[in-house]
Amino acid sequence: TTSLKIAVIPGDGIGTEVMPYGIRCLQAVAQAFNISLNFTAFNFASCEYYQKHGDMLPMDWKETLVKFDAIYFGAVGMPDVVPDNVSLWGSLLKFRREFDQYINLRPCRLMPGVRCPLIDRKPGDIDFWIVRENTEGEYSNIGGKIFEGTDRETVIQETVMTKTGVDRVLRYAFSLAQHRPRKHLTSATKSNGISITMPYWDERVHDISLSYPEVRVDKYHIDILTAHFVQKPDIFDVVVGSNLFGDILSDLGPACTGTIGIAPSGNINPDRTFPSLFEPVHGSAPDIAGKGIANPVGMIWAGQMMLQHFGYFDAASLMLQAIEAVLARGDTEVLTIDMGGKGTTQSLGEAIEKEIQAFTEKQSAMET
Ligand code: NAD
Ligand code: IPM
Ligand code: MN
Repeated sequence: TTSLKIAVIPGDGIGTEVMPYGIRCLQAVAQAFNISLNFTAFNFASCEYYQKHGDMLPMDWKETLVKFDAIYFGAVGMPDVVPDNVSLWGSLLKFRREFDQYINLRPCRLMPGVRCPLIDRKPGDIDFWIVRENTEGEYSNIGGKIFEGTDRETVIQETVMTKTGVDRVLRYAFSLAQHRPRKHLTSATKSNGISITMPYWDERVHDISLSYPEVRVDKYHIDILTAHFVQKPDIFDVVVGSNLFGDILSDLGPACTGTIGIAPSGNINPDRTFPSLFEPVHGSAPDIAGKGIANPVGMIWAGQMMLQHFGYFDAASLMLQAIEAVLARGDTEVLTIDMGGKGTTQSLGEAIEKEIQAFTEKQSAMET
């Protein structure tokens, strides 16, 4: 069997705390399904590395990482030490762009056993995907400051939408919607106020929709769309948005399902020219870092998405079942504080690892 080579980048803060449990769960499921996973850890792409080297990454980072099948990434950011734009443009955003990970795929699902802040919502009611454009849009480095230090001081930052860039994320989203039972795609726009790029986005949505006649499409301006996330999240199936809108929606969506601590994220290069990157949606959480209380589910679920990406569907489905089984038990000694429990990263991480191992034992007992 071939071995999947995975670059492990824990990063900063709780990234380093949740990563070990992600790896342990992946190892447990790999053992069950005879998948060979080969992990190599790197200390770069962290603010500690920056403090030592004056840069987030070594010169040869691209040659190093391109040899891997995937990158398993924790979180980056120590805003008191390195400005966030420096640490993030020097690491994660660089990976997304230089490895052309133009899809950012983020599930939003109300899991059994998880306390939902919205009234009268039960598991099954909220279950959709956010497809976020991940390489251009509002995240651009075109612009600058002029008349600095004068009364006319002005800053400008351009939004960039290319036809290729917009069309490829829309095609991905349409195709995802087409393969789901409800075949429904919602586009996030703001073409009333953002008068050049957003009407262009809408125009591309319309054009691409003609190739997917089975998919029902609608669009909402981003302001009311955030309200609908809270008031009628059941209407969504696949939601596609620009880089910034997708970013905002993918914290809001998981928060509506209980906590951002469980949400995973696949930064995908569908062409497979470069490694894809799997990470939790959340950041380094400096406010709780070092306490051992971070929710490890986002990190573990990101590992699940990685297996799915490589076509290990049975292993991926077991991993998701194990997460669900542990959450469904609702054991407050196990669940972390963000989920209303009293548990720790360790209690929740190990419970999921044990659950995977238990499935495995049952399976091998059935085989013999
Ligand atoms: P954050 O996601 O780190 O934290 C937001 C809030 O959610 C905090 O109160 C935090 O304690 C809580 N939280 C987040 N993850 C949690 C978990 N797993 N378990 C329990 N609680 C959790 O966002 P922020 O505060 O805006 O950013 C902090 C730093 O992380 C900044 O430097 C930011 O730039 C960076 N960041 C990095 C990434 C990434 O690497 N992908 C993503 C978002 C933010
Ligand atoms: C995310 C994060 C990043 C983003 C930040 C840390 C640059 O919020 O992955 O959602 O905005 O994409
Ligand atoms: Mn974000």
